[in-house]
Amino acid sequence: MLIFLNGEFLPRSEAKVSVDDRGFVFGDGVYEVIRAVGGRLFTADEHLERMEGGMRALGIQPSEETQRAALLGIARRLLRENGLLDGEATVYVQVTRGAAPRLHQFPPAATRPTVYLSTAPFLPPVEIRGVGAAAITTPDLRWSRCDLKTVNLLPNVLAKQLAVEAGATEAILMRDGVVTEGASTSVFGAMDGRIRTHPASNYILPGITRGVVMELAAALGHRVVQRPLLVEEIRRVDELFITGTTTDVLPIVRLDGRPVGDGRPGPVTLGLQEALAERMRTAALAKPG
Ligand SMILES: Cc1ncc(COP(=O)(O)O)c(C=O)c1O
Repeated sequence: MLIFLNGEFLPRSEAKVSVDDRGFVFGDGVYEVIRAVGGRLFTADEHLERMEGGMRALGIQPSEETQRAALLGIARRLLRENGLLDGEATVYVQVTRGAAPRLHQFPPAATRPTVYLSTAPFLPPVEIRGVGAAAITTPDLRWSRCDLKTVNLLPNVLAKQLAVEAGATEAILMRDGVVTEGASTSVFGAMDGRIRTHPASNYILPGITRGVVMELAAALGHRVVQRPLLVEEIRRVDELFITGTTTDVLPIVRLDGRPVGDGRPGPVTLGLQEALAERMRTAALAKPG
């Protein structure tokens, strides 16, 4: 598999990042995961816009390679050269503040950001989508800028590990009595005839799939309310589901070992799952790129 690193396309096994890279030493960088369907990138502009916003917020200087058109060109070339134009794939994009002697403050302005892209074949988890998955709840131990998609993922890693050790797929995070999001997904609950989700704030990542799903939900006639589920409410929702670039819409049918609703994927969730699948199929056929 070819990857892209700092201006070069090279085999993954030959790619080397400096030990002084601030992504390695400080977790000082941002990333995105973009889905490709039949070689077409799904919601790529939204992903790259979010990454640009993250770089701005962190003061990471853009370079020629971090321009949107350049990144899209690199991503497409990797998909092509890695034989991923058929079926599904993911594109990983990471930009760090670059390599410099280890000092906490920003390095000299001339330090070039490290730019890394790779692609991987992706098999949508079709089976689990139909039957639903288990989740656990756990405290949200993250910082107060969860809206930035940084490579500082330690609390997410620890939460996901707890979930896996409990035989679950996702860890749903709780902060100050409310549900924020999943370790790597956005969280929605259906109750009292509404779909509830945490508002876009500094305590959640504004998920790209979350945005698409909210739009699809409105088009299907659902009322979507951006008000977080309270910890006590999540136990009595009719339906619970998570969304994400590699998760799509996944029903959560067990929470902390107990059934959610009647313990099966519900009609709201399944309707949105189908609507998203349809949107991705249409986007793959319609838009170049
Ligand atoms: C913490 C967190 N929330 C939500 C998401 C879902 O975001 P998206 O739909 O943009 O993939 C992710 C994706 O990795 C995530 O890490």
